[in-house]
Amino acid sequence: MIRQILTVPDPILKEVSKPVEIVNDEIRALMADMLETMYDAKGIGLAAIQIGVPLRVIVMDLVWGKEDAGDARLPRYFINPEILDASEDLRPYEEGCLSVPEYYEEIERPAKIKLKYLNENGEEIIEEADEMFATCIQHEIDHLNGIVFIDKLSRLKRERAIAKVKKVKRIAA
Ligand code: NI
Repeated sequence: MIRQILTVPDPILKEVSKPVEIVNDEIRALMADMLETMYDAKGIGLAAIQIGVPLRVIVMDLVWGKEDAGDARLPRYFINPEILDASEDLRPYEEGCLSVPEYYEEIERPAKIKLKYLNENGEEIIEEADEMFATCIQHEIDHLNGIVFIDKLSRLKRERAIAKVKKVKRIAA
């Protein structure tokens, strides 16, 4: 089921999400809805809080996000993700977010990280991430902590972003 994506400055996006206790069918159904919503909105990652569910759950598809990928899909699921280690060298990337439609700005984040999470079967995985994967998972983990990427910008840029989102939503309404 496609859910409504919350956009800034909705205060729910500032909530800190709670860990998932058991990876069960309810969580898998939530993740299926999140993926459907993400694909529909043409995004490559989505955190549960973006559809108003304050749980530490992320879905992502970086294969689908590639321009030359056609219809290829590789959905991935991250439950209770934690960053164990982060490189000192940074990777800049012009980020966007489904909660900040049509706004993009360069953000620098650690280029490589070590990540721990539960997959869709509740198995613990420890994995290294770099390139787009590193950028994207850090962006999504920020959402679980109530942080949207524009919170990392100057107040002026953040206000401009919010004004643009309001305008975009007015035109769409
Ligand atoms: Ni986002």
